[in-house]
Amino acid sequence: MRPEPAYRIPFSGRAHRYTQAEVDLVARVMQEADPLTQGRHLREFEAAFAAYIGAPHCFATNNATNALELAAQLCELKPGDEVIVPAHTFTSSAYPFAKQGARLVWADSDRATRVVTAQMIADKLTPRTKVIVVVHLYGYAAQMPEIMDLARRHDLIVVEDVAQALGAEVAGRKAGTFGDLGVISFHSHKNVTTLGEGGMLVVKDPAKAALVPLLRHNGHCAFDSPREHYWTPAMGNLDLPRPGLWPSNYCLGEVECALGTELLTRIDQMNADKRVRACRFIDALGDHPELQFHRVDSTRHTYHLLAAYMDERGRPGLRDAFMERMAFEKLIKCVVQYYPLYRYPLYAKNGFGQASCPGADDFFDHMVSFPFQHWLSDEDLDYMLASTREVLEDLSR
Ligand SMILES: Cc1ncc(COP(=O)(O)O)c(C=O)c1O
Repeated sequence: MRPEPAYRIPFSGRAHRYTQAEVDLVARVMQEADPLTQGRHLREFEAAFAAYIGAPHCFATNNATNALELAAQLCELKPGDEVIVPAHTFTSSAYPFAKQGARLVWADSDRATRVVTAQMIADKLTPRTKVIVVVHLYGYAAQMPEIMDLARRHDLIVVEDVAQALGAEVAGRKAGTFGDLGVISFHSHKNVTTLGEGGMLVVKDPAKAALVPLLRHNGHCAFDSPREHYWTPAMGNLDLPRPGLWPSNYCLGEVECALGTELLTRIDQMNADKRVRACRFIDALGDHPELQFHRVDSTRHTYHLLAAYMDERGRPGLRDAFMERMAFEKLIKCVVQYYPLYRYPLYAKNGFGQASCPGADDFFDHMVSFPFQHWLSDEDLDYMLASTREVLEDLSR
């Protein structure tokens, strides 16, 4: 493999910078919090998040993958149950459900919006379908009202994977509040990050919500009856309502929670900054129809990522030639993301290597994801725009 150059514009592993106030807050909570996990900052973060997203039962976790593990447990799957998941997504949208014994059924993605549609889910329904996972990939909220209608007609559980789309809205509501369960990520790459890792689980059913603190934290709970001393028979109880349900430790620390609460005050602004820039970039390339973006000038898109489809128009290899010129001549690291999951050995070896998802295959095989971290300077964005134009023009000669 040709070694990668020293990039002028990297595909950064961190999405945004912190303000001085955020840095000061982190330093203060580091020194003052007692305990450093499971304390008042957790409660405040969950309450602030619930108010932000508009759903009452929200639970912070140490990442979205573990929020998905909890979501999968709460679905109470039985062997043979089918879970429909888009093939074009990050791996942890899918495998937590396989770990609970489900059969994964891959859904296609719409070429224009890059997310699953109600029709694509309907195409994969069988009498064994129990759950549908809807991923708001790239930051764009899928058509939740239609998907919820379908789910209600077929009595299905809906899990929204909002890892990439915190703040995205559809039909006047935030993504993550339509489904039975919603999952948000605060990973380093996401539009806001709680120091690299973090997640949130939104639960609609209050009975299921009551289980989450136990499942999230080792099954710790109170004893049923009053005790004479706080130390007898033990410091605390361990229980869960049925056999076969086992807990984990998926807690998020106090420093991350305090920072998360603070970041919620500017997530909308950061999303708006990214949306304005995305639209500017897309519009400036309007005379290059071979590069097809998904332009959405509304809160339905958070532009976590800025991805395009390269229409090769009888010029096979155009996408790869573009990537190469951008990387080695312009020193801009574009990437190709979300290998359809059924192509990975991990899924194939477990019997999930088959799919009919022509939209996902075609999009993946032609996609270009531009570096789009919030901290990109205006100068770098302009340089990326000029470079994109130059390379496309050269390649069309
Ligand atoms: C669509 C999607 N789902 C789930 C996850 C998992 O998030 P986390 O890294 O917080 O576990 C990611 C992270 O990249 C993601 O993009």
